[in-house]
Amino acid sequence: MNAPIIAPSILAADFARLDREVEAVSKADWLHIDVMDGHFVPNLSFGAPVLEAVAKVTDKFLDVHLMIEAPEKWVDTYIKAGASSVIFHVEAADDAIALARHIREQGVKAGFSLRPGTPIEPWLDHLAEFDEVLVMSVEPGFGGQSFMPDQLDKVIKLRERIDADGLDTIIEIDGGISAKTIEAAAAAGCDAFVAGSAVYGAEDRNAAVEELRALATAAAK
Ligand code: DX5
Ligand code: ZN
Repeated sequence: MNAPIIAPSILAADFARLDREVEAVSKADWLHIDVMDGHFVPNLSFGAPVLEAVAKVTDKFLDVHLMIEAPEKWVDTYIKAGASSVIFHVEAADDAIALARHIREQGVKAGFSLRPGTPIEPWLDHLAEFDEVLVMSVEPGFGGQSFMPDQLDKVIKLRERIDADGLDTIIEIDGGISAKTIEAAAAAGCDAFVAGSAVYGAEDRNAAVEELRALATAAAK
């Protein structure tokens, strides 16, 4: 088991003070960048210019979660803006495997995500095509929602298959991760944990990151 990856979502940050908000999570492993287009999900967040601005003020791995329609039209824009990984939704992609290959050809990690209602089974034979799988533990679109524990069934299935096939695909979980829920997610086999409100809702953001990491480390054993 590798050390858990803690990825604060800047969706929950103060957008008017983004440079300080990035600095405030200096102890995080990654930064999670939630792009919403108001079509694939009923909410609008921000786009490539904000990613580009964040990339200028940090060297951290920028984990870009595209909750957008027609991701194939947009991935190059986000890669150019500084994405370290690009995660798109299988519900929105025409050909997820072709799109992942396109992303990887540019030296960027490729991942897919699925809404809570989308089954994982059809994807289990194709995990070698992806660097990351982002399991949604809330309905995508908004921060601050309650964790859906039934989504851990997907994590357990992914963990079994990734280990059986000797892959290094990262299982990341997104939505409602906090000090109350991260242990269950770590025990189920997650490698990476997105946390928006649990980190940016805390007075001391770095302390929240370290608490989450300690809980995940202990629960993963
Ligand atoms: C939801 C986003 C999440 C969200 C997480 O659509 O993908 O990354 O910001 O926020 P919390 O941790 O507050 O559930
Ligand atoms: Zn996300």
